Amino acid sequence: MAQKPLRLLACGDVEGKFDVLFTRVRAIQKKSGNFDLLLCVGNFFGSTPDDEWEAYKTGIKKAPIQTFILGPNNQETLKYFQDADGCELAENITYLGHKGVFTGTSGLQIVYLSGTESLNEPVPGYSFSSKDVSSLKMMLCSTPQFKGVDILLTSPWPKYVGNFGNSSGEVDTKKCGSALVSSLATDLKPRYHFAALEKTYYERLPYRNHIILQESAQHATRFIALANVGNPEKKKYLYAFSIVPMKLMDTAELIKQPPDVTENPYRKSGKEASIGRQIPAPEEESACQFFFDLNEKQGRKRSSTGRDNKSSPHPKQPRKPPQPPGPCWFCLASPEVEKHLVVNIGTNAFLPEESYMRYSCLSSMLSLQCYLALAKGGLSDDHVLILPIGHYQSVVELSAEVVEEVEKYKATLRRFFKSRGKRCILFERNYKSHHLQLQVIPVPLSCCTTDDIKDAFITQAQEQQIELLEIPEHSDIKQIAQPGAAYFYVELDTGEKLFHRIKKNFPLQFGREVLASEAILNIPDKSDWRQCQISREEEENLARCFRKEFEPFDFTLDD
Ligand SMILES: *[C@@H]1O[C@H](CO)[C@@H](O)[C@H](O)[C@H]1NC(C)=O
Ligand SMILES: *[C@@H]1O[C@H](CO)[C@@H](O)[C@H](O)[C@H]1NC(C)=O
Ligand SMILES: *[C@@H]1O[C@H](CO)[C@@H](O)[C@H](O)[C@H]1NC(C)=O
Ligand SMILES: [Zn+2]
Repeated sequence: MAQKPLRLLACGDVEGKFDVLFTRVRAIQKKSGNFDLLLCVGNFFGSTPDDEWEAYKTGIKKAPIQTFILGPNNQETLKYFQDADGCELAENITYLGHKGVFTGTSGLQIVYLSGTESLNEPVPGYSFSSKDVSSLKMMLCSTPQFKGVDILLTSPWPKYVGNFGNSSGEVDTKKCGSALVSSLATDLKPRYHFAALEKTYYERLPYRNHIILQESAQHATRFIALANVGNPEKKKYLYAFSIVPMKLMDTAELIKQPPDVTENPYRKSGKEASIGRQIPAPEEESACQFFFDLNEKQGRKRSSTGRDNKSSPHPKQPRKPPQPPGPCWFCLASPEVEKHLVVNIGTNAFLPEESYMRYSCLSSMLSLQCYLALAKGGLSDDHVLILPIGHYQSVVELSAEVVEEVEKYKATLRRFFKSRGKRCILFERNYKSHHLQLQVIPVPLSCCTTDDIKDAFITQAQEQQIELLEIPEHSDIKQIAQPGAAYFYVELDTGEKLFHRIKKNFPLQFGREVLASEAILNIPDKSDWRQCQISREEEENLARCFRKEFEPFDFTLDD
């Protein structure tokens, strides 16, 4: 049985003209039957004090239809929106909230982003920032099944929406509008996108969301900007349409291309549009389109370390991490990686727990370098690994950016474990392993001193005729090991390192054996990881626990 379409109305800036709007809605409903929802974008309230609202607020007057509105776009109207999470402002008038997704019982998905774009910190209460946009994308686009959303509501127009389209009249979309909204629309692929604030009506020709000849067909997007309620020029401010939620449609119906469909206005071919900081040039855009504008953040980070290379032709272009030659258990992008063990990913503030996937895109777009995962069959519940996202075999091969992030993780983990009364011992074995794993094993302070640990390593190495050399505290493994040479080293919490150049037959479990021995953790039966395996469920629990406890220390959340 075919799904009965929902009948919706969308409206531009109301600016306090509630009576005009609702009188009009009543007339329309009387003439052509009831609608299910009224969606208002732009300024719902006027900037000058008005008495009309009082009547709605107190219930003397009522909205004749369930009405959803966006939040404020200016300081003057901030006062009407006390609760950023959204709330009912009057009977049948609901503020959706700062940003989020509204899914109706019908299955209709409406994504909303309130306010105007702000590129400055702190972000005023009537604005959104790149973080808001990134977190919406994260929330929605990070599942492989993601196809798009039914409706996107924003107050500002997306910048460049006029590209390849029919005329947007007096509005120059290369100058006005929000580039963040364009980037959001690109990723969210709404079937309808409504905006306002420009006091004009513009229905753009529908645009496609796929690249012809390269990607399979997807649904088209209709962008509709609406004028302000009761404008003297009688520009259209109310738009009626019917829609079946996309999740209830069959694919063939959904992806039917309208005859007048155009190229995607945000996907650049013209030079002009790629000037926008948030709009990446096509070569920067990975297939999954996670183009967060954290480029900006990264740019800042780079210059603060003084490594900005001004002569570089693409200074902001994220570098793709190295790819493995075959399957790899530790490359974050590989299907083999045990994602449920991942507890933290570098330089990324917006990764909700359920979306640890599509890392390849993430890492290339955000220039992430490392991640943190629980060790499988760890010596303890908080035994973790620092791993590069890209395929690097050893510390020796790492680029400066990756080293920088490894060091950050080390320092953070030291602080984290210290707060839990533990010191951490690190080791790496570049021998019979393909992907760098920096083992981080916390040892309770009460258990033994750093010197005890050092002695245990040296003694047990001697017993097995392993030559363990003390290397100067601040020296770099890179200076000691030749690229390609096999080695093992331990780093103590003091920064001291013990290094062994592996010639042949190095015992693979050596590091674990020493730490598990009576002298240190005294859990000798755990020296082989295979004897420490637990169920996937238990692993998930441990990872969840670790993520939660690590969060206050997480440098990737710092601004
Ligand atoms: C509120 O909205 C509902 C659903 O659109 C409608 O049936 C109802 O009549 C409205 N309330 C008033 C007081 O008009
Ligand atoms: C642009 O195209 C849309 C969709 O076909 C149409 O409704 C609208 O009137 C057009 N606008 C102009 C200015 O031609
Ligand atoms: C900067 O980049 C240029 C061109 O890519 C390169 O030749 C040069 O060595 C770099 N300089 C530094 C300090 O990294
Ligand atoms: Zn790898």
